[in-house]
Amino acid sequence: MIRKLLVAMPLAAVMVTSAYAEQTPGDVLRGLIDRTQSPYLTQSPQNVQMIDDSPAIWTGYEGGDLFKAPRGPNNVSMESCDFGKGPGVVKGAAVELPRYFADTNKVMDLEGRIVHCMTTVQGFAKDDPAVRTRHGSNSDMMKIMTYIAMESNGMPWNPPLSHPLEVAMRDAGEEMFFRRQGLMDFSCATCHGPDASHKRIRASVMSSSSVPSDWTKSISWPAFRVGQQHARSPQNRVRGCYWQMRTGQIRQDSDAMMAILSYWTDAARGQPAILPDMKR
Ligand code: HEC
Repeated sequence: MIRKLLVAMPLAAVMVTSAYAEQTPGDVLRGLIDRTQSPYLTQSPQNVQMIDDSPAIWTGYEGGDLFKAPRGPNNVSMESCDFGKGPGVVKGAAVELPRYFADTNKVMDLEGRIVHCMTTVQGFAKDDPAVRTRHGSNSDMMKIMTYIAMESNGMPWNPPLSHPLEVAMRDAGEEMFFRRQGLMDFSCATCHGPDASHKRIRASVMSSSSVPSDWTKSISWPAFRVGQQHARSPQNRVRGCYWQMRTGQIRQDSDAMMAILSYWTDAARGQPAILPDMKR
């Protein structure tokens, strides 16, 4: 008996430390489904079947190659860049963003931090197509963003709230989420608030920011959008929803964008990220 225990113990330790690496995005999703039986999470059996063969996984692999390659006028890789957990650390970085960065004195998201790295460390001009092209699986941005995000698959969302600006951004984002505005008098909460949970808009079952075990899937981006045949970013989703609200458009790199992303990430705190996700 004791012999058996001794043999099993080191094995168990190995399994715990490498659990994240062994999980696929599909494992994380199926784990949430087993736990909640949520009609939101189960709305597309096809996507649940396809998620482990998502083309976005290849987008992420290509991003890993780009990340490690010497590039830009300075001919250096991105491996010295700080995504919040120290130079070159990508494991677990995405679930702790947006966060405050002292070198820019700003709360920044993953996209903004990639731009910062490409322009300051690698020396790319801001209007270089490598930096400027933000959408579609073929852009450097989507590849690199998907690579870094994949390194957080299965980890709990845990955006820091220790700096006053991080708290201010989260609070501003909450205000923006619940404030009705624009031509149609919509707020985000009209479609994603507590009252909208599991209601449908045409074929789509809605998730609510007040149900974290649903909301984690909603904010898991990059995701492969089957209807668009491309990996898309969180910023792209926010722009799409403001378009649905018929408001003026929100800028990708604005404080308003950081605020929305800070609120929506905090709302999924503690729930495992599905990266990359697969969506309609
Ligand atoms: C008029 C209704 C409406 C409003 C208002 C709205 N959304 Fe959406 N939202 C949708 C629909 C519809 C989808 C797509 C669901 C799908 O593709 O199945 C969506 C998708 C999303 C998703 C991804 C969900 C998923 O299943 O992957 C997020 C996150 C999101 N919206 C956030 C927001 C935020 C933030 C705002 C406010 C800036 C907002 N939405 C305003 C209707 C709305």
